[in-house]
Amino acid sequence: MGLYTVVITGASGSAYGLRLVEQLVLVGHEVAVTMTDAGRDVTSYELGFDLPMDEPANGLRGYLELGKDAPLRYACVNDLFDPIASGSHRVDGMVVAPASMGFVGALACGLAGNLPERAADVMLKERRPLVLVPRETPFSLVHLRNLTSLAEAGAVILPAAPAFYQRPQSLDDIVNFVVGKVLDVLGIDHELFDRWGE
Ligand SMILES: Cc1cc2nc3c(=O)[nH]c(=O)nc-3n(C[C@H](O)[C@H](O)[C@H](O)COP(=O)(O)O)c2cc1C
Repeated sequence: MGLYTVVITGASGSAYGLRLVEQLVLVGHEVAVTMTDAGRDVTSYELGFDLPMDEPANGLRGYLELGKDAPLRYACVNDLFDPIASGSHRVDGMVVAPASMGFVGALACGLAGNLPERAADVMLKERRPLVLVPRETPFSLVHLRNLTSLAEAGAVILPAAPAFYQRPQSLDDIVNFVVGKVLDVLGIDHELFDRWGE
């Protein structure tokens, strides 16, 4: 099974990142999760989930109703010694969901100032799969230029843009659609939405 990194930044929509973690673990992949400080704050505000920093991995397992042995670990946002900070560490893919415009700007400039920025920078330099789920509206020209730079560098830009031809009935349906599209990019099977024509 594969090894994936999921980052949750402080853009609206941490539900996307958390659902992705859940799905990756449920199909048997190992997941390294990290959240920026703003990501944790916005998650608390939007979902009422406060990540317990004394036991973050267990907190995630509990919130996502995963078993206590679920292959999930938490990497601290400033821990530049974490394995995902190095290109020699094997990672099959990385997803930043949601990706704030602050994160997008830092990555586009190659700042690598914290673990998520460095880990994403590594994915680009190693030419490994990196999916960014930006969430902002409207986009400024700065945002668009940064996203274009990252697409040129090899990232897949997958906006948090649910489709309505699926006739979503709930927030869950909307979240599942975006997360399913991320899994499609990573080549991971899922049943999060019905496929058009099937
Ligand atoms: C409730 C809330 C919602 C936010 N939504 C967004 C958003 O959708 N997109 C975005 O780029 N920033 C959003 N922000 C601002 C970011 O959290 C802020 O720019 C932060 O510095 C991002 O830091 P990070 O990239 O380290 O997570 C939001 C902030 C709050 C408090």
